[in-house]
Amino acid sequence: MPRPFSRLMRRAARALPALLCAVSVAGHREGLASDCPGYRVAHFADTPHGFSAALTLAGPPCNVFGTDIGDLLLHATYETSGRLHVHIEDAARAQYQIPDAVLPLDRRCGVEGGSSSGGLRVKLVHSEESGVGFQVLRGSEAIFDTAGWPLVFEDQYIEVTSRLPTDANIYGLGETPDWFRRDPRNTTRTLWNRDAPDPFRENVYGSHAVYMELRGGQFHGAYLHNSHGMDVVLTDGAIQYRVLGGTADFYFFAGPTALDVADQYTALVGRPSQIPYWALGLHNCRWGYRSVGEVDQVIANYSQARIPLEAAWTDIDYMDARRDFTFDSSAFPLAGMQRQLAELHARGQKMILIVDPAIQANGSYAPYARGREMDVFVRRSDGSEYIGQVWPGYTAFPDWFAPNASRWWAGELGRFLDELPVDGLWIDMNEASSFCTGSCGSGRPAGEVPELPWLTDRPHRPVNRSNPLLAPPYAIHNPEAELSDKTIETTALHANGVAEYHVHNLYGLMESRVTRDALVARQPAARPFVLSRSTFAGSGAVASHWTGDNSATWLDLHVSIATVLDFGVFGIPMVGADICGFAGNTTAELCARWIELGAFYPFARVHNNMDAVPQELYRWPTVAEAARRALAVRYALLPYIYTAYQDAVERGWPVARPLVFEFPAVPAVADNDRQLLLGDAILVSPVLAEGARTVAVFFPRGRWYDWYDHSALAGADAAVTLDAPLEHVNVHIRAGRIVPVQHPAMTTAESRCSDYELIVAVAEDNTAAGRLYLDDGATLASPHRWLGFAYRDRTLWIEQQSGSYTVPRPLAKLTLLGVLGVRAVAVNGTAQACTIETAGNSTMVSALHIDINAPARISLL
Ligand code: NOJ
Repeated sequence: MPRPFSRLMRRAARALPALLCAVSVAGHREGLASDCPGYRVAHFADTPHGFSAALTLAGPPCNVFGTDIGDLLLHATYETSGRLHVHIEDAARAQYQIPDAVLPLDRRCGVEGGSSSGGLRVKLVHSEESGVGFQVLRGSEAIFDTAGWPLVFEDQYIEVTSRLPTDANIYGLGETPDWFRRDPRNTTRTLWNRDAPDPFRENVYGSHAVYMELRGGQFHGAYLHNSHGMDVVLTDGAIQYRVLGGTADFYFFAGPTALDVADQYTALVGRPSQIPYWALGLHNCRWGYRSVGEVDQVIANYSQARIPLEAAWTDIDYMDARRDFTFDSSAFPLAGMQRQLAELHARGQKMILIVDPAIQANGSYAPYARGREMDVFVRRSDGSEYIGQVWPGYTAFPDWFAPNASRWWAGELGRFLDELPVDGLWIDMNEASSFCTGSCGSGRPAGEVPELPWLTDRPHRPVNRSNPLLAPPYAIHNPEAELSDKTIETTALHANGVAEYHVHNLYGLMESRVTRDALVARQPAARPFVLSRSTFAGSGAVASHWTGDNSATWLDLHVSIATVLDFGVFGIPMVGADICGFAGNTTAELCARWIELGAFYPFARVHNNMDAVPQELYRWPTVAEAARRALAVRYALLPYIYTAYQDAVERGWPVARPLVFEFPAVPAVADNDRQLLLGDAILVSPVLAEGARTVAVFFPRGRWYDWYDHSALAGADAAVTLDAPLEHVNVHIRAGRIVPVQHPAMTTAESRCSDYELIVAVAEDNTAAGRLYLDDGATLASPHRWLGFAYRDRTLWIEQQSGSYTVPRPLAKLTLLGVLGVRAVAVNGTAQACTIETAGNSTMVSALHIDINAPARISLL
């Protein structure tokens, strides 16, 4: 077997980390560590739910990027009917592993007598050259196969490589702005949380070592449970994990559908939590509002333009000297904010404010003084307080591992919310972002507020390269000069004695959890709303997410679809990008096209940077019109979107889905990220190019009804060119589906008060089906009601599936797409007074008054 990556090359790579960019496993079965000896099985035992093996180094250590660990344990467990766990850990258990308190996994000892998980089996394989490996098999096909690559297990470097089809369909692995289908020949996915303005194909705010693969029409998934920095490299025929520590803790999900994988993954790391219904409304924000009065004006302008606005957000502008839990007494005085909140609430609207984790290190600032008293801040390796730099100047960072941290944080939030009980919190900068490298504030005078580093020409501070936490032997492809740049230094210590190096990627997840817990403790009945920039596996259970600092470009508009779809794979369905773009000046055309797409992000918020032109949706007549039209569709669909969201809560199913999740047998959709499905029934086909007034998009086989004029399009697994005037977004309803809607209004609360309607989009076989989830939309333990709808032979059944929630509004209208010739309607055999109209190929039956708290049979006569 050729060994192209010689020791010599490796030494060169170590000396010149940048060279690694050019080096890959391309086409070969060797990784960076092809000369490593691998492991052999010293002991093997069957267990009730799988097997375990003691592994021992099969030759002299290679110490390629750290120190080889001689003795390992491998546990293979068929944990559930859809999940297989393969964990290779150091026998001494000295390597860092994510504690369950940080990410509570659904631990299972296994399926009784298990020899398979949903058709997945695992077996060990041996080779003279590379030692022991493992294969995860579905039937005779290995969907994960490390045979032939030596396992490298060192204190600071783990390398696991698996064979992939050369043209593999891989989705997930991020957070990185990229096309939705990862390039199987040339992807280096770096997982190291980083405050970076969404550079294409670079690591940004969150870390998700989970992927789904579509192979032979079926999906499966794999998740590596490890918090360390890593590169995951896809090259011809292989996926290679290069991890800076911890253990090789893999979970495999059997699928076979994409929704099954999402279900199996979120069952493990945590289901998305329920959101308040209002969170599905339109949000507006901007960094750079100069006063509470300016925000008042923005709110009024939305209303005057008849564009629905659910929540007014204020960025760090409201703070006194950019410090958390304070108000700028002249521009955003507390009394003015309280008045604004009361006015918003009186109109059924909401207020959300930003909070950053960094706390100004100034003894006269009470949150800091209390935090010091309670010993809640991250420390340097010498035990002194770690002081970085964020908006308020020199700052300390809450150490979420500190025993008092959650109590302190809840206390600070509590004081703040006592003054201003806002409806949700936006937690930003939690990678954690720090503008300087290292503890740059140590020894500086109290109260000194330094210039922002990018405004001065502060020289880069090279780190001590002999410290392996600062400069680990393997350099992941983090684009900053040092791993510690723009964040807390990797040598900083947490209260449990663990260095930042090991837990860096967990910061945002941990902050999300303590924030959510604080809100729930404060108001146990209410569903909290927390939006976090940094995320990790399991974040969906505690936060929603926006995709950070994108730019007002056509490229970013397109990429936003892929990123939103990625977060469906990551188990964080409530996600959206800054509509109209965060950085740089948007244009009327781009902003119009962006709201036409953004109206269908699960989380829809307009936001931008103070340096850019204001872009509230009423600023340009064309944008306002595009917004009114697209948001009218969104608000009509609220019951449907909320139902899709409940599927995320109960089964982890993404709300926004790529076509490939619903049509896996159609090869042409494998890389489609130009369209998105909301749930499984609504297909959105936005314009993504400047000047375009038509859009060429893909329609899978079957009938698709135009949202607006109800015309039927015959999908033929082919591209179709649709008209797309500037203020219009194409939306289609999939035949065979029943979509519940309500009347679109200016707030979600108002919409919720309208009668229900059903759009029955009949397929060629004259059937359709759908569901509706209902609850109070506000409390954590609300009673609920699941309804099922089925249409066949000119009869629509409303089936009560579960729950006791009393739905206050009746079903008042049916829009029957593909149904003609209705002359009368009977409900449970009794004729109904109603109005029947036909237009084109559809029939509208209105003025009905059907109680949906009971089963009903609606006959179309
Ligand atoms: C960075 C966030 O990503 C952005 O949305 C926000 O406006 C700024 N921080 C200021 O708080």
